[in-house]
Amino acid sequence: MARIPEKAILTIGDQQIELPIVVGTEGEKAIDITKLRDRTGYITLDPSLSNTGVCQSGITFIDGEKGILRYRGIPIEQFINYPSFVRVAWLLIFGRMPTTEELGQFSELLTRHELLHESARHQFQQIPVDAPPMAILSASLSNLSYYHPELLAIEDTESFVEAAARLISKVRTIAAFAYRRSQGLPFNYPNPKLRYCENLLHMMFSLPHQQYVCTPEIVDALNLVLLLHADHEQNCSTFTVRVVGSSQANLFASCAAGVCALWGRLHGGANVKVIEMLEKIHKGGMTPEQCIAEAKSKDSTFRLYGFGHRVYKNFDPRSRIIRDACDRVFATLTHGDPLLDIARKLEELALKDHYFTDRHLYPNVDFYSGLLLRSMGIPTDMFTVIFSIGRLPGWIAHWREQHNDPTSRILRPRQVYTGSAEIHIESALVQAPELKNTGK
Ligand code: ACO
Repeated sequence: MARIPEKAILTIGDQQIELPIVVGTEGEKAIDITKLRDRTGYITLDPSLSNTGVCQSGITFIDGEKGILRYRGIPIEQFINYPSFVRVAWLLIFGRMPTTEELGQFSELLTRHELLHESARHQFQQIPVDAPPMAILSASLSNLSYYHPELLAIEDTESFVEAAARLISKVRTIAAFAYRRSQGLPFNYPNPKLRYCENLLHMMFSLPHQQYVCTPEIVDALNLVLLLHADHEQNCSTFTVRVVGSSQANLFASCAAGVCALWGRLHGGANVKVIEMLEKIHKGGMTPEQCIAEAKSKDSTFRLYGFGHRVYKNFDPRSRIIRDACDRVFATLTHGDPLLDIARKLEELALKDHYFTDRHLYPNVDFYSGLLLRSMGIPTDMFTVIFSIGRLPGWIAHWREQHNDPTSRILRPRQVYTGSAEIHIESALVQAPELKNTGK
């Protein structure tokens, strides 16, 4: 590999300045422009931040060209044989694998904090039954601030661990309550004897007359979905958590903001759009070929949902794992899912089409994750909620990394202003005379 220079030289007119080059563990290179404006008066313009590193982080590594994803250095594929979401959460947050004792203590903490405050539980009764579960989730995470005011200013590891455990545990209870509310069903309290994923499924699906019994395949699949979503470096929602956290907002508020960012259809909402797209084809609303044609059309805003990624330009390693898991789980079910066949057909068509291959558009994690969630009986409007449960450890890990970094400052980008040049208020009123006359 060519030697990486230590400095970059920037020439602006007749001024030349040297900018340091920062090199990451895996050789990724960045030009450090921290002093650029001070020294030249210039800023950089990168509206979608695609070329901008906003921090140095030791949590997750992605190589989008090679389809690599690693949590704390461990390739994502290697977690398939160790599917404990709680262990992965600990790894991401604290930077190394927990010992058996540490994992046991953290799991105990999760069990201790799994109940919601009774007032919070009563609040659910006031929420309209058709309220979007993501709205309930973001509001409820933010509301944790008023039940745990002692955890708003985190000054030591102990209170951080308390806040993190409360979030990771209660998010599951909130998610299940949101689902039960939408179904008009009584809430199920968490069962301390059940492990993380089983407990979530129990709270969602057990009925007063019938305890929900899930197969090991379903529990493993849910574990897998959660751990595959656990972190993805500076994605939209994680960056949001960092932006909010950089103002020293508390952990609950920062993660609630992350939920809002995840809600959008270009981010966490994409697997919902995938299912809607597959259902439309299934109901005869369009053929797979028409779907591909519409996704390619410049006259349409429609996209082939579950395809493309800002970072992965070859393949998304999570999509392969999810696809295999889909095959495994559906093999154990007595009923198939016609949408799975349609998804395979769409994938086949897209991978043969130059529009997609030329633009490096391949299936992302969302293309098959919705199908896997459907196989567990999880309804479409809960998909992004489940994604949030999975992504929470990543948000917490990033919030902590930033909080513990003595050099971190409030995130406050600049802009290139393109509005009106200075104008006197009197001339502005001339352009709007009715305002001048009424004095309003
Ligand atoms: N279907 C059709 N065309 C697409 C798609 C798609 N899914 N994705 C990108 N393109 C096209 C764009 O129209 C654009 O074409 P052009 O060069 O002719 O103008 C080109 O590919 C580049 O697309 P961008 O929008 O610039 O790519 P960007 O990196 O900004 O967006 C994104 C990435 C948002 C994921 C995009 O690929 C997309 O909208 N995909 C569908 C939604 C989706 O699946 N989101 C989930 C992402 S993964 C996650 O959040 C967990």
